[in-house]
Amino acid sequence: MKIGFLTSGGDCQALNGAMRGVVKGLKANSKDKLQIIGFLKGYKGLVEGKYKKMTDKDFEDILNLGGTILGSSRMPFKYINDPDEKGRNKIECMIENYKKLELDCLVVLGGNGSHKTANLLSEKGLNVVTLPKTIDNDIYGTDITFGFQSAVDVATGYIDEISTTAKSHGRVFIVEVMGHKTGWLTLSAGIAGAADIILIPEIPYDIDKVKKALTEKEKKGSAIIAVAEGIISKEEAGLKKKELKAKRLSEPVSAAERLYNELKDITNAEMRTSVIGHCQRGGSPDAYDRVLVSRLGAKAAELILNKEFGRAVVFVGNQTDSIPLSMAVEQTKFVDPDCSLVNDAKMLGICLGD
Ligand code: F6P
Repeated sequence: MKIGFLTSGGDCQALNGAMRGVVKGLKANSKDKLQIIGFLKGYKGLVEGKYKKMTDKDFEDILNLGGTILGSSRMPFKYINDPDEKGRNKIECMIENYKKLELDCLVVLGGNGSHKTANLLSEKGLNVVTLPKTIDNDIYGTDITFGFQSAVDVATGYIDEISTTAKSHGRVFIVEVMGHKTGWLTLSAGIAGAADIILIPEIPYDIDKVKKALTEKEKKGSAIIAVAEGIISKEEAGLKKKELKAKRLSEPVSAAERLYNELKDITNAEMRTSVIGHCQRGGSPDAYDRVLVSRLGAKAAELILNKEFGRAVVFVGNQTDSIPLSMAVEQTKFVDPDCSLVNDAKMLGICLGD
């Protein structure tokens, strides 16, 4: 049996552990000799035929190792039909290299865009199985993606640390968490970090409501506002995509700074901003993610052994499962403003900006 791995898009914790899980599952349940090809830097490696032959040694001691031993890169799906820098048709190259290497299956560890490319390759006849990776937790059809919980831990720890200095100085801190389109990470880390106000892209904020909440919250001496990278105001929600893009380009500051400028005149307290950044994707996976990827990897191995291709491994109701790849790419999993996570946060007195 010959399988190919690639890790695509923004990295996250537990990518290595996920590959290890697949390999362990295959080895424990098949007598076939297993040959493993690791494509370097995501789909780029598959397009360019850049890979390494992997051995058992490569999968030792990597369950707790952050980053990806294969490297990663972004290859946006919306440009997938554009030729690469050498003028090659990327899809044709990928199919050619898959066939040349006589792979039985390509295992893709990726987020939304990577799933779309995987689905396209599957439609073109390649045997593909995917695993859901991203700190954003926004892949449709799975309750959770790997990397998410580790990123929640990092962001929560960061807010905890900011909170102590905020209290010492009686300051308001606006902490920016990753997430351009979805607010899962900000919402979870915000609740875990005892934030007073949490703003996410799915709930356009009313600045007057935020001001009112801040005036109230800062009475206790300090306050924490957790914001996602992609927050938008109620007014901005009425803009066309192009108009919003132009507005953002005209004021190239972080989401935290934008909010700072809107709030600076109403608070008596000193206010500071802090952007957590890429450390949310870095470091070792937490115990939750190590268990999760071991289970997702085992499920992927089961699919490969049963020759059930064109499927995305998912985690639903604490069970590993799989869905057709075509279903996983149907939509993005946004935070529903009426879901219980949001309602529970509001019940705790947290202002969500609406
Ligand atoms: O992969 C998800 C993510 O970390 C988002 O949360 C973030 O908005 C984006 O990637 C950052 O991308 P880059 O690594 O290209 O700066």
